[in-house]
Amino acid sequence: MTAEAIDLEHLASEAQAGLASATDEAALQAWHVMYLGRSQGRLTAVLRTLGGLPVEERKRVGAEANALKQQLEAAFETRREELQGAALAETVEQGWLDVTLPGRAKKIGRLHPITQTLRDMLGIFQRMGFSVVEGPEVEEDYYNFQALRIPEDHPARDMQDTLYIEQAKGRTATPLLLRTHTSPNQARFMETHQPPIRIAVPGRVYRYEATDATREWMFTQIELLAVDEGLSMADLKGTLFELAKGLFGQERRIRFRCDYFPFVEPGVDMAIDCFICGGKGCKTCRGEGWIEVLGAGMVHPEILSNMGYDAERYTGFAAGIGAERIALLRYGVDDIRLFYQNDLRFLRQF
Ligand code: DAH
Repeated sequence: MTAEAIDLEHLASEAQAGLASATDEAALQAWHVMYLGRSQGRLTAVLRTLGGLPVEERKRVGAEANALKQQLEAAFETRREELQGAALAETVEQGWLDVTLPGRAKKIGRLHPITQTLRDMLGIFQRMGFSVVEGPEVEEDYYNFQALRIPEDHPARDMQDTLYIEQAKGRTATPLLLRTHTSPNQARFMETHQPPIRIAVPGRVYRYEATDATREWMFTQIELLAVDEGLSMADLKGTLFELAKGLFGQERRIRFRCDYFPFVEPGVDMAIDCFICGGKGCKTCRGEGWIEVLGAGMVHPEILSNMGYDAERYTGFAAGIGAERIALLRYGVDDIRLFYQNDLRFLRQF
């Protein structure tokens, strides 16, 4: 081993000079191979010769060589960053890159306004102890009407224009139809469960209707049903009041008026004081000060006994809430048909 071969100082200054004259990535890599490369690197070669040196010298040269290795690796990184910075600066200077531009926002989807409203309502009911269950959209005449005290040929059927499903005669005991409301799930659930019952049933419903600003042939409801010992109209009112406050603010007032639904007795409709004008009368409430939001009532005792319950012991309340109606009010939308036209200009606002 000649003294020259382990002239580390010389090697160091040559390496530094080489690094300074490397002006691009390719030159940098070539430099790295030349000095630090695993097989051919000049410094690597020095380290490989250490084994042949006398112990004392091996220690000294080994320490120096290792220090130089670290130094060169660090210098390499620094030079690299320098060159990258310079390249970026040049790009910016030539106007290829404007680092002041705002980042590109990722396009993320969102929930449909009706889904949002539905989830908010279900959340309110769930916090009060109701479970969410679902039922079929193609429903049997029996559950949609008969079990709810709406017999065939009864005038109450006129309240809901119905889309029937054509089918071969005698296939099922009762005709099939697209459910006109979510109320059939009252009977479906009671048939297979015993009180206490607290359920909220969301879903699409269908009616054979000409559409206008407040009517769609397909819309969404939530059916609410509670059956237990000792339930009264006060429980119904308290529960629906919570819904009104949760959706439209703590200061809401509610109004109940008698209404007719064959499956409840008494039946009511519920209105909230107009949250736009505070009850004075405006365009949203059509000058009335009140906005009707849902139908409800105490489950008819005949239905409870038909389900095999002791109607002396158990009472229940039910309600049917239209989600689109609530969403129209909540978001100040003036035409229900907008929800289902799939116009992104509309949907992106929610
Ligand atoms: N199913 C009724 C409708 O769609 C709404 C309704 C009214 C549901 C009163 C109820 C109720 O549970 O008690 O018109």
